Amino acid sequence: MGSLVAKLADRIDRFGPLPFDEVMDLALYDPEGGFFATSGSAGRRGDFLTSPEVGPLFGAVLARAIDSWWESLGEPDPFLVVDAGAGSGTLARGVLAAEPSCSGAMTLVLVESSDVLRSQHQLGLPLVPPAVVLPAASVRYDGEPKTESGAGPRVVSLPGLPALNFKGVVVANELLDNLPFRIVEWEDDGWHEIRVGREGDAFTEVLAPCPELTRILGPLAGRIPTGARVPVQTAAASWVRTVLGRLTLGRLVVFDYAATTSELVSREGGWLRTFRAHERGLSPLQDLGEQDITSDVAIDQVTRDHPPTLVESQAQFLHRWGINGLVNEGRRIWHERASIGDLAAIRGRSRVREAEALQDPDGLGGFTVLHWEVRGT
Ligand SMILES: C[S@@+](CC[C@H](N)C(=O)[O-])C[C@H]1O[C@@H](n2cnc3c(N)ncnc32)[C@H](O)[C@@H]1O
Repeated sequence: MGSLVAKLADRIDRFGPLPFDEVMDLALYDPEGGFFATSGSAGRRGDFLTSPEVGPLFGAVLARAIDSWWESLGEPDPFLVVDAGAGSGTLARGVLAAEPSCSGAMTLVLVESSDVLRSQHQLGLPLVPPAVVLPAASVRYDGEPKTESGAGPRVVSLPGLPALNFKGVVVANELLDNLPFRIVEWEDDGWHEIRVGREGDAFTEVLAPCPELTRILGPLAGRIPTGARVPVQTAAASWVRTVLGRLTLGRLVVFDYAATTSELVSREGGWLRTFRAHERGLSPLQDLGEQDITSDVAIDQVTRDHPPTLVESQAQFLHRWGINGLVNEGRRIWHERASIGDLAAIRGRSRVREAEALQDPDGLGGFTVLHWEVRGT
């Protein structure tokens, strides 16, 4: 028996059938055998391709948006930009390579729970110890981060959100879909929770009553067919609440595949996906720790207590922040330098292909971007 399988079996024997979020937390984040704690990652050589991993264009467009948000905050220095669920730091590299005007003021905080992925933050990033820019980062702190002005960009790598109230920007690309969720199934007498039990060496699904989850879901639109399943994303909703509680001024911007819970009802469970090496994986109860487990983000659940300021598609976001100009610039550089064939020429040409992937309405372009603007009091 693998170590995660043994751990899960032991927990079930001690506590009875477990909610799915506990199984998912173990499968993805167990420090010894969890998918992200060991091998799992985004990227061409990883398990799934995210927008920053398509190439540096996503970061370049985001850098333009970040500049504008910095200006609207009165150009603070230091200016905190948090990349939550930063993976190996690819988005940060893309943003910094674009050299936004706020670079000198920027403290980029990469928050990544996996030790393995966090160890890659030192590659090509101007990493400084957290204490240099986030004094008292481990205690709750209501002051401004202290740094010498104009000396950025600085990058800080942390395993969790900085424990301070701050003004700035928090972005999260494909984080919420990876936060553990519970699962409910509609039966003739209402919602029941799918828990995970075991019969010998096999993990099995067990139905359990769940009045508290029914209250969280609230009423859904349309008829719900018997057997329909949806995720209950309390961890994602609580993460949004935590971030908005810490931001005194600025904004939270989340990029993810998303739909309403009512839309997920009709997907016949297709909202729950597993991945490894760019292929769809097996049932989430198989090969624990060896595959990613993810769900579309239920927009209504994560926004119920905190209505967003703006909801748009990723394609709309990229268009608003000038992706077309960057692609045209790339084409021009390619035409000017194609005969030399240097890195600038190749990067210029690759922007065209990156833009297609990032704006594909059936792929990354169809992702949802949720903005919460915090205007302060
Ligand atoms: C799908 S990956 C996205 C990585 C990156 N943002 C990208 O777009 O390529 C999600 C990442 O979030 C990390 N993660 C999950 N829960 C986290 C948490 N509570 N705090 C920080 N990182 C977390 C995972 O380890 C994983 O690296």
